[in-house]
Amino acid sequence: MNEPLLQAIDVHKSYGRAHTLVKVLHGASLDVRREEFLAVAGSSGAGKSTLLHILGGLDTPDSGDVLYKGENIGKMWGGRLDVVRNRVFGFVFQFYHLLKEFTALENVVMPQMVRYGPVGWLAARRKTRREALDLLERLGLGERTTHRPSELSGGEQQRVAIARALAGSPEILLCDEPTGNLDARTGAGIIDLLLELNREGQTMVVVTHDQDLASMAHRKVTITEGSIESDPKAAHSPKGA
Ligand SMILES: Nc1ncnc2c1ncn2[C@@H]1O[C@H](COP(=O)(O)OP(=O)(O)O)[C@@H](O)[C@H]1O
Ligand SMILES: [Mg+2]
Repeated sequence: MNEPLLQAIDVHKSYGRAHTLVKVLHGASLDVRREEFLAVAGSSGAGKSTLLHILGGLDTPDSGDVLYKGENIGKMWGGRLDVVRNRVFGFVFQFYHLLKEFTALENVVMPQMVRYGPVGWLAARRKTRREALDLLERLGLGERTTHRPSELSGGEQQRVAIARALAGSPEILLCDEPTGNLDARTGAGIIDLLLELNREGQTMVVVTHDQDLASMAHRKVTITEGSIESDPKAAHSPKGA
């Protein structure tokens, strides 16, 4: 099945108004296919984060549509949008966005607590903790589960953030410059991890100005002047191709 899982269609987005108006996206269109690793490249300020937030329902376009399996995210209301935001997408950010007061394990578990709510959590707690521990173990953090972010290296914090995103079994992992704050070697470790997850079928969109990371993807597109240009050549062929 290769119908797009997620589509942005003719998305426009500006910030500010009148003389302070910054036109960021004007006519950006993009398909995300099931199980692909799509890189979105672009220079700093090109609109990569803006596009990623719009794709994941964290921000709304001024005009244009985002479709998840053909369903218009902009026309979802209330609970439905929350469900899609929380269950379809997993976010990984450049600066990790971990909660400082909490341990690695608690950071991974927290979004699930929110997802289940107080009553559901009682039933789901044991299983969710087990899954979180397994994920941390798998990401090489088995010895770090009780550490707080300040006691972890940048690469370790990013792994916790990836574990947190994966804990909800998202259909689509959206990563915003996941190696942007890491040295080259640590960044390469994160790239390997993302590639491995993708080989297991994880669909992912990674925005980056890092050409090394972008070149690892099945498919690369570039944001230029507010719209999206496809790159003719990709380093790897898509799974199953
Ligand atoms: N909330 C905001 N208010 C005003 N301008 C913004 C806001 N967010 C982003 N911008 C501007 O939009 C442009 C694109 O930003 P962004 O999507 O963060 O780019 P990138 O992630 O590619 O570096 C930049 O010029 C940035 O300054
Ligand atoms: Mg950005």
